[in-house]
Parts: sequence; structure tokens; C-alpha cells
Amino acid sequence: MSIDPKRPVPPGVKTSATGAPARPATATPPTRPATAAGLLVGVRDGAGMREFEFTSADFERVRKLIYQHAGISLSPAKQDMVYSRLARRLRATNKASFADYLALLERGDAAEWERFVNSLTTNLTSFFREPHHFPIFAEHLKKLGSRNPIRVWCCASSTGEEPYSIAMTVAETFGGFNAPVSIIASDLDTNVLATADKGIYPAERVERLAPDRLKRFFLKGAGSQEGCVAVRPELRRMVQFQRVNLLDASWPVKGPLDVIFCRNVMIYFDKPTQYKILSRFAPMLQDDGVLFAGHSESFLHAADLFRSLGKTVYELVRRSR
Ligand SMILES: C[S@@+](CC[C@H](N)C(=O)[O-])C[C@H]1O[C@@H](n2cnc3c(N)ncnc32)[C@H](O)[C@@H]1O
Repeated sequence: MSIDPKRPVPPGVKTSATGAPARPATATPPTRPATAAGLLVGVRDGAGMREFEFTSADFERVRKLIYQHAGISLSPAKQDMVYSRLARRLRATNKASFADYLALLERGDAAEWERFVNSLTTNLTSFFREPHHFPIFAEHLKKLGSRNPIRVWCCASSTGEEPYSIAMTVAETFGGFNAPVSIIASDLDTNVLATADKGIYPAERVERLAPDRLKRFFLKGAGSQEGCVAVRPELRRMVQFQRVNLLDASWPVKGPLDVIFCRNVMIYFDKPTQYKILSRFAPMLQDDGVLFAGHSESFLHAADLFRSLGKTVYELVRRSR
């Protein structure tokens, strides 16, 4: 089964020669030029023959919109990726050109904005990704002793593997599912949140988990869910999912928090955006709170707020030692 959440091709859906889902026969064809035989004509641009023209100016408009809305800085190298992800939106909205599609967005179509943003996020994740963080997290939980509740925010949770790994660590540390720990998991992308909330994954996503974890935390799918695993309801109940755009002026998640997992999302933001977010995290954290970042994320530029504890784990500078 494909693990790229951008290309879900449900069973039974016919695919084209390129592997993309075929358009249903009943869909209204886009108002693009057609040959005498009724075939759609491709457009030659800098990248060769394409279904839609995608100019540098179109790409710049997309970059500006996604930066303003989600803080995501798309590098010039992402032009082909953006084309292939958004070409599907042009087909779905029956637009003949990127200019028409972007005009639709700029008119403020809320539902299409959501799909536009969902198309441009990168959601790569896995269970116990960057595994060295989880024993550190478990030790931190133990240090907090009788604090109740201990509050954890996983703020770019993608399809759920990260917050469920957090929940498994909590259950292991406290010896059960009824731990005094509240786990809030959020993401900007509503598609990944829906997957996360279901907690059903292709079996290959968990094949590297230790057998005792697999047995304790997952159920094996049968019938229509053959080849899948489901997160056990007790574990699922430990995590509350909600949509949060880290760029929004106000967040529904409030402090005080004991732990923030903010891993592998800051890399999509520029330094000023990262700094703004970090300066909002700092007052939400308890004095002894910790922040987990992704392996390639360094917050040296926010040394007035966070101090590195090594292994991309950070504590507050204001913490009294
Ligand atoms: C590469 S995934 C990282 C997932 C997980 N944290 C991990 O380390 O495995 C990045 C996630 O950040 C989310 N994201 C991107 N921009 C965001 C924003 N402005 N606010 C909240 N989440 C955002 C994406 O939707 C995506 O699911």
C-alpha cells in the first residue's frame, strides 16, 4: 500500500498510465483547448509538455499565498512538485489555467483554500521517528512526579504516528492507559488530521515496532481492513486532535504546558517565522518545560528564549537552575 498521503488511490479506483487517479467519466471536462478529435492539448513550458501552463509568475503567486497563509517557504526547487500537486486541484475545480485557479483562491473560497493548503504540506512521519527523543521524554515525565495533569502538545502531528508514539511512551511510563497526562495533537492539514483521528494504518507502517508494543497498542485489521492495523481505543482516547495553524494570531491550545513536540515543521519556515512561534511557545511552557525539535532544526537564533540540552531538545532560558 502507498504510504504517500498525497497520493491516496483507494482500492477499486482506476488509475491512468501515470498512476494518477483517472477522472470519473461523468466529470465535466475543463474548458481547455481541444483538438478536432476532442483530445486535450498539452502546453509546452520551461519544463516540457504539460497539461497546464505554469509560469514563473504563477509559481511566485503560489509561493506568496502559501507563505502568507501557512508560513511555508517553498524553495525555487519545488516548482515541479507544486505543479503536480496543484494540477489535481485545477482538474477538480475545472479550471483551465493556474491564473484562473489562483484567482479563485484570491476571491477567498474557504473550502478551496483548505484543499490548496492540504495539497502543499509535506506530511512525512513515522512511529517513533527520531527514537532517541522518547526515552528523554519518559525521563522527563518521571521527573514531573505527581504533577496532574501533565500537559503535552504535539503541534505538527501529521497523520498521527508521532502523538500515538507519545501516548505509547506515556502508557509505558505510567504502566497503563489512565495516566495523568493530557496529549493535544494538532496540524494545519485537515486531511492528515482525519487520518490521525481514525488511527488506522497500513500494517507496513508498524512493521519496525517491537512485537510487545504492537501487541499492546494495536489491533490487527480483518475483513475490509485486512492488511491494516488500528490503534487500540484506549490509546486513541489519550490523544485529542484539533486543527491549529501555527501562523494564526491566536491558538486554541493554551498553557501551561509541560512538553511541546514541534518536530520537522520549523524547517518549512524562515527564521523570522520560527522566532515568532518560539516566542509564543516560551510563555506557554512551565519553567521546567521542554521542547523537542526535529533533527535538522536548530534554534540558536532564539538563544534568548531556548537553550539546547543536546539531541535537539531545548529548555527555557528563563528556567531557574
Ligand atoms: C514533515 S511533517 C512532520 C510530522 C511529525 N512532526 C514528525 O516529525 O514526524 C510536517 C507537518 O507540519 C504541518 N504544518 C505545516 N505548516 C504548518 C502550520 N503553519 N501550522 C501547523 N502545522 C503545519 C504539515 O501539515 C505536516 O503534517
